[in-house]
Amino acid sequence: MAVARKKTTVKKSLSKAKGKKAVARKPASKNASAAKVSKKTSNPLGLEKKAPGQFDTLQEIALAAHRKLPAPVWDHLMGGADSEMTLRRNRAGLDALALRQRVLVDVRHIDLSTTLLGQDLAFPVFPAPVGGFLGKVHHEGGPAVARAADSRGTTAFIATAAKPSLEAAQEAVKRKLIFQLYVRGDRTWIEGILDRVRKAEYGALCVTVDRNFYGRRERDIVSGLPVKEGFGDQSFQASLNWKDLVWMKERVGLPLIAKGIATAEDAVLAIEHGADVVYVSNHGGRQLDHAQGSIEVLAEVVKAVAGRAEVLADGGVQRGTDVVKMLCLGAKAVGVGKLLGLALSAGGEAGVARMLELMELEVRTVMGLMGVTSIKQLGPQWLREVPILGTPSSVSAYPLLEDAVRRNAR
Ligand SMILES: Cc1cc2nc3c(=O)[nH]c(=O)nc-3n(C[C@H](O)[C@H](O)[C@H](O)COP(=O)(O)O)c2cc1C
Repeated sequence: MAVARKKTTVKKSLSKAKGKKAVARKPASKNASAAKVSKKTSNPLGLEKKAPGQFDTLQEIALAAHRKLPAPVWDHLMGGADSEMTLRRNRAGLDALALRQRVLVDVRHIDLSTTLLGQDLAFPVFPAPVGGFLGKVHHEGGPAVARAADSRGTTAFIATAAKPSLEAAQEAVKRKLIFQLYVRGDRTWIEGILDRVRKAEYGALCVTVDRNFYGRRERDIVSGLPVKEGFGDQSFQASLNWKDLVWMKERVGLPLIAKGIATAEDAVLAIEHGADVVYVSNHGGRQLDHAQGSIEVLAEVVKAVAGRAEVLADGGVQRGTDVVKMLCLGAKAVGVGKLLGLALSAGGEAGVARMLELMELEVRTVMGLMGVTSIKQLGPQWLREVPILGTPSSVSAYPLLEDAVRRNAR
């Protein structure tokens, strides 16, 4: 039976929400006193009174975004493909690891600095590419994220669909950004983009390789959110192969990052075809359903790479502990996708800067409590496999948010 759909765009959804209180769903109960209680308890933290730079915790950022975003936009950001098993496995994989800790170590000075393709990063976290989402929840999009990342000493990935343009993001900061390419047209279209990337003086090209087909994100399909599958000849996108990667690197003349690698075999092929960085990712669970969680494949990829390229990773990362676990398994730095979307939605550029600052604070605290003074000391010896507690999901890292989502309270 055909599902009746209401066509709505993110921008429309957002502007519809303006003017109304930022409550997109009615309270579950019509009972007046129940509604009163839910109103009273739905904002226990006084989030409206806080400027973005004043958020004290990552959960407040996520809660503020939940209050602000209309349901279809929230679902677009936080949802995954089909049954959302990959999405949940990203969290489950992280939750299945516990950290070991050593005590009575002098941890007054903890060095979080690292490098990526020769560029200094103050700490090993970066905003992952999140396509056109940036421009949909923020008038500036790419430049805002670039500035926020730069202000915290890290770089940002700018996606092909980032608004207002790839040039505007790189012009906003002196630091070299990384351009992420989705193939959305034919060879001539790609040439045009790559020439602009070189001219704009990006630091590296990231080609996303796990999107030959567009994952079926059923939350978007059901809510009627328009899904852009690209333009031009769709079969070109589906025909991409390793030789195209070599050609793209030659054309752009920049270091190459292959994003979306999930097996040892492909890690080896990526290096053989010119990748300087292997980026472990399953698109935050938005593409292949029933894949392994990112952290579950990280060790396999790091072993296959064997020091011949740098390794990045993302997938389910919402806490400093998640970052540390990925570093223990060999990632050089770690990307945040949904969390970036939450921070930009909650507080614009200042929200993203604060999110990165809080993430750095969490990483530093975790390492101090583990008795580790440098990320160079991290390795698999700090991890133990443990049974998972609770139900992993895209909100389960934030108990207050999990409660709000369960109560449908905004
Ligand atoms: C709203 C949204 C849009 C995304 N758009 C892109 C994109 O344009 N290009 C890309 O390579 N990955 C894209 N991704 C995937 C992210 O780069 C990243 O791999 C993923 O979000 C990491 O998982 P996490 O969301 O659990 O942190 C997107 C993710 C989200 C949530």
